[in-house]
Amino acid sequence: MSSPELVEGRIEIVADYFRSGFDTDKKSILPYSTAARKFYKMADTIIQTTNLTKNFKKTHAVEELDLTVNSGELFGLVGPDGAGKTTTLRLLAGLLSLSDGQATVLGHNLRKESEAIKREIGYMAQQFSLYAELSVLENLQFFAEIYDVPKAEIAQRTESLLEFARLTEFKDRRADQLSGGMQKKLALACTLIHEPKLLLLDEPTTGVDPVSRREFWDILTNLHLNETTIIVSTPYMDEADRCSRVGLMYAGKLVVCDSPRKIRETLHGEMIEFLTDEWKEAKTLVEGLPGVFEAQTYGEALHLLVDNGAKRLKQVTKTLSKNGIKFRGARVAPIRMEEAFISLIQQLENEDVNI
Ligand SMILES: Nc1ncnc2c1ncn2[C@@H]1O[C@H](COP(=O)(O)OP(=O)(O)OP(=O)(O)O)[C@@H](O)[C@H]1O
Ligand SMILES: [Mg+2]
Repeated sequence: MSSPELVEGRIEIVADYFRSGFDTDKKSILPYSTAARKFYKMADTIIQTTNLTKNFKKTHAVEELDLTVNSGELFGLVGPDGAGKTTTLRLLAGLLSLSDGQATVLGHNLRKESEAIKREIGYMAQQFSLYAELSVLENLQFFAEIYDVPKAEIAQRTESLLEFARLTEFKDRRADQLSGGMQKKLALACTLIHEPKLLLLDEPTTGVDPVSRREFWDILTNLHLNETTIIVSTPYMDEADRCSRVGLMYAGKLVVCDSPRKIRETLHGEMIEFLTDEWKEAKTLVEGLPGVFEAQTYGEALHLLVDNGAKRLKQVTKTLSKNGIKFRGARVAPIRMEEAFISLIQQLENEDVNI
């Protein structure tokens, strides 16, 4: 089952990679066209769930989830706190029993073959999952043993993973003495030691500084380009934007599942942006103006979804000035995943129906 959209997603990632001026590892980019051609032919189903459900007593953590993930996808899972992202990943990792439904992961039945799944995938938990008192190198060696990596290969794999994660010079440092970003990179390296075809990563960059976050995504992009299938949950919309597809979870359900471009396109209209310290007052003032569909604030930025960017920019500017609101910048801005995501969540909250 191949899908042009998935390939498109990968192309977008490569384009983004170049645009962002990353320290690109050319070795992994150059064979990309070959990889893309191969990918067209070989997109196997890696995950398929039907009606996947998990209840914790009265909490419906995951409800009737139908999801198909194909080989080579970089799939982003987003959603508000408590939406069911961790539970979904833990179910797929074979770490929780299903309340209902069925699923296959790497061809294994999730109900009957969870042990095989655990051996074949790489799962990175949301919480700190390293051995605090062991060094970087010892952690990698420990995971190599757990996953029965052949003894003859351990030294070479640990060395290349240390390099990959840029941790070689810290290899003798205790895990609990690493920075947050380094800990995340080490945890990822540990999940890669048995060379899994599927990675399930639960908020791997939460709380990490922007530079480390970028480095982490550098590594993920390389893995993606080398055909590892990745599902990653994230609270960061710029990260979701880098995925080939994004699933939005809300109250245990998968409510949207599409490419970032298509999700952005769900927002009809144009975005205008104002930078102001008085964003609260500004928001109240402009919310009901004609042609303003929605108002969202980000720090000191006020974003308005409007019918016509150029026209409303003038009108809103006038209204703000007339009411003595000072602002530094006003422009028509591109719509990002962040706006689309917040808008979708607001709609779901307003609907107040059993979704
Ligand atoms: N072991 C558990 N026992 C009882 N309830 C649980 C358990 N694990 C999760 N839940 C509940 O299930 C729901 C989904 O939780 P989950 O951790 O999957 O959400 P999440 O999307 O990962 O949230 P976050 O963004 O905060 O990590 C929540 O209401 C949570 O309280
Ligand atoms: Mg979670």
